[in-house]
Amino acid sequence: MQFKLAAPAALAVALLAALLAPQAADAEELCGLTPTPKCSGHDYSAVFRPAERGLDFDNLPGYTRSAHHSDHALIGVESRVFAGQRGWRSATTAHIISPARGANFAMYLADMAEESSAEPARAGVERFVLVLQGEVTVRHGKKDITLGANSYAYFPPNSTDALSSEDGAGLLVYERVYAAGGAPAFSTGDVEESPLLPTGPEVFKLRKLLPQTADYDFNVHIMDFQPGEYLWVKEVHYNQHGLLLLEGKGIYRLGDSWYPVQAGDAIWMAPYVPQWYAALGSSPTRYVIYKDTTLDPLLG
Ligand SMILES: *[C@@H]1O[C@H](CO)[C@@H](O)[C@H](O)[C@H]1NC(C)=O
Repeated sequence: MQFKLAAPAALAVALLAALLAPQAADAEELCGLTPTPKCSGHDYSAVFRPAERGLDFDNLPGYTRSAHHSDHALIGVESRVFAGQRGWRSATTAHIISPARGANFAMYLADMAEESSAEPARAGVERFVLVLQGEVTVRHGKKDITLGANSYAYFPPNSTDALSSEDGAGLLVYERVYAAGGAPAFSTGDVEESPLLPTGPEVFKLRKLLPQTADYDFNVHIMDFQPGEYLWVKEVHYNQHGLLLLEGKGIYRLGDSWYPVQAGDAIWMAPYVPQWYAALGSSPTRYVIYKDTTLDPLLG
């Protein structure tokens, strides 16, 4: 027993000595040439680190790409604040866009814990939910509908359908006060089963998750870009947008600002802000975007 203990200990000492001796000698030789912790107690190695590593943005104190202007905003992952919200039980929400900054809709993330639930939206408010992770159950009349990641549900104004999650879920939610005066219907679906729509001369892939009829005052688009693909039209239009980058990275132009963006970033676009996107990096971009529609721009 004692031998067994002593042998590894002796080996460890020998190994340590072997490891330390040459290093100490190296450090001594380098002193005065390259500052090292051993010489000065400081480590300046960041100055000559490989350039391709670039700036380490990870939690750089006070640094954020998040920006807030009269006609647009960029809200990075680091800027979200989750809090309790009326109607949500065992869940927190982070409102990213709301009428507080002039939008005609609200866009928020909901972080649902185990055994959580959400009451229906307020009277007159329509709600669209995209499941990003986990699973939720929609109580629709007497029927329970289970929605997993990448599926969605639309609740028309005055819907009484509640949401719940047994094991937790992460949701993107759009809501607005219904303004079209038609009869929109409850619907659910899976993003990938939604048909691709023609976009020429654009090259991105487009899906619209709600019917394109006058019953609806907004739609939710899913847009896919291969790296290197970009918007052909340098868009300026009356419609408002609430965008969440789901995958990939690129450059978003908003007005006169050009933002490097990555998955998790959210963007608010007010009416008429010049907007343009290029997908970059080595993997495709997918984003989901709210667009108000079919309303007469003259009447707001
Ligand atoms: C929703 O219900 C309210 C009454 O609570 C009603 O005034 C309103 O017209 C309804 N909205 C729609 C779109 O059905």
